[in-house]
Amino acid sequence: MPNNEKIFPKIDVLIYLSYTFNSKKVALFCNQFLNYKLIEASKVDLNIKYNNVLLVYPIHSQDIPKNLYNLLKNIKCNKMIVIATYGRIKHGNSLFKLRYKFIMPLIGACYFPTKHSYLKNDKFEPNYDDLIPLLNAFNNEDSKFIDIKKSKSTLGHNFFPKLRAQLSIKIVLDKNKCISCNLCGINCSNKAIKNGVINSNCIRCLKCICNCPNNALDYKMNKILKAYLKNQRHNQIELYY
Ligand SMILES: Cc1cc2nc3c(=O)[nH]c(=O)nc-3n(C[C@H](O)[C@H](O)[C@H](O)COP(=O)(O)O)c2cc1C
Ligand code: SF4
Ligand code: SF4
Repeated sequence: MPNNEKIFPKIDVLIYLSYTFNSKKVALFCNQFLNYKLIEASKVDLNIKYNNVLLVYPIHSQDIPKNLYNLLKNIKCNKMIVIATYGRIKHGNSLFKLRYKFIMPLIGACYFPTKHSYLKNDKFEPNYDDLIPLLNAFNNEDSKFIDIKKSKSTLGHNFFPKLRAQLSIKIVLDKNKCISCNLCGINCSNKAIKNGVINSNCIRCLKCICNCPNNALDYKMNKILKAYLKNQRHNQIELYY
């Protein structure tokens, strides 16, 4: 039997999935500390067995975004720390799912409160330094695989989340500003937009809006979502290590 660790050098990586930059900011902070190779989730080579992996991703509808499933099903590594960013409404149970459904070798994990993607005037500033004790788990030779307690999710959070997002948010294109560069299409992980025109694959992640070079895209929320987003904020980081 070939020994993978002899074939591949010990590679440590910092993988991030980010649509509206919150998780990317967390990844960039962690990278100053760890100095691992920084890779966007869709570009990860899944034929390699990695050593340490730090994974940063956002919570969508109190769950793991579907765009991460292929990576979670196929990635091989020795130790993993996961940071799930969320907009301080409710984080659901995604770390538990990651640990026990995808069977990730977690030595540390955290729910990290951030600005909410949908709130334009959210002034919240995360305290990135809170993450340092978690990142230190990679330096501890005796780190053990952790247990994650099951958290409560809101009933119905997984009931057609894409459809619910589509019904509550409208993406608007200003044709006068659009220069037909299709950067929105190139950046969309769901093949849901071409030259500013949305199709039914759209999950309302807002990545296209954040990456449009001419501010030609914007969004409008319905009253129900606006009211929901006024829910009490959870500003405390939850750490497991
Ligand atoms: C489609 C979608 C669903 C979301 N669902 C939740 C949620 O259930 N609970 C929550 O607190 N924040 C939720 N958020 C907010 C994001 O989790 C949060 O802003 C995150 O930091 C975004 O990361 P990103 O900027 O790297 O994409 C959601 C955002 C989007 C776009
Ligand atoms: S990125 Fe903006 S300007 Fe370019 S095609 Fe899309 S909407 Fe138009
Ligand atoms: S078209 Fe929809 S799915 Fe694609 S980047 Fe824009 S908001 Fe996200």
